[in-house]
Amino acid sequence: MPVKLLALSGSLREGSFNQKLVNRAAAIAAEAGADVTSIHLSDYRLPLYDQAVETSEFPKAALELKRLFAAHDGFLIASPEHNGSISAALKNVIDWVSRPVGDEAPLALTGFRGKTVGVMSASIGPFGGLRSLMHLRQILGTIQALVVTEQVLVPFAGKAFEGEELVDELPNALLPPLVQRVIELAEK
Ligand SMILES: Cc1cc2nc3c(=O)[nH]c(=O)nc-3n(C[C@H](O)[C@H](O)[C@H](O)COP(=O)(O)O)c2cc1C
Repeated sequence: MPVKLLALSGSLREGSFNQKLVNRAAAIAAEAGADVTSIHLSDYRLPLYDQAVETSEFPKAALELKRLFAAHDGFLIASPEHNGSISAALKNVIDWVSRPVGDEAPLALTGFRGKTVGVMSASIGPFGGLRSLMHLRQILGTIQALVVTEQVLVPFAGKAFEGEELVDELPNALLPPLVQRVIELAEK
């Protein structure tokens, strides 16, 4: 059975550079034989995490996302850098998906435990979102996901894409090995 990968970006913005970046990664993964599901976070009406909301009724969108994460072997995540960290939208998804539902143990972490993750970032600055990936690695490690050592950064993103296409040479060369590693480890 082909490995199942979920691809998403942490940006809600139409025309997002990170969405374009993860779209390219998803295409590479599909060409390599993975079964890829691509989602856009702007399609989910996810409330800001609040334990009172969680206990009264687990939001439908959060449940849907949690089921999607749990049903995949690994993830390709493109993280925008907001003030040196990950976007609030991405953190909100991670927080909801990390929560137990039904009779799951509090730390079951079914959306993350044992999943393999490839991370990437595009930013308009010179560091290509490096700081957001440092935080993202720490967060995902805390919730028992395995983030592969390879990563892809796209600095000066305003010049790195022509339309939907990534034209910057270095990230284009680094994406296939990142995706390949995610597929290899997720297969195990
Ligand atoms: C609130 C906010 C904070 C930002 N902070 C950073 C930052 O710390 N470093 C950086 O390189 N770019 C920063 N940016 C610029 C983003 O790189 C830029 O908005 C980029 O397009 C975001 O990715 P997206 O196109 O996928 O939405 C920030 C943008 C916003 C809106």
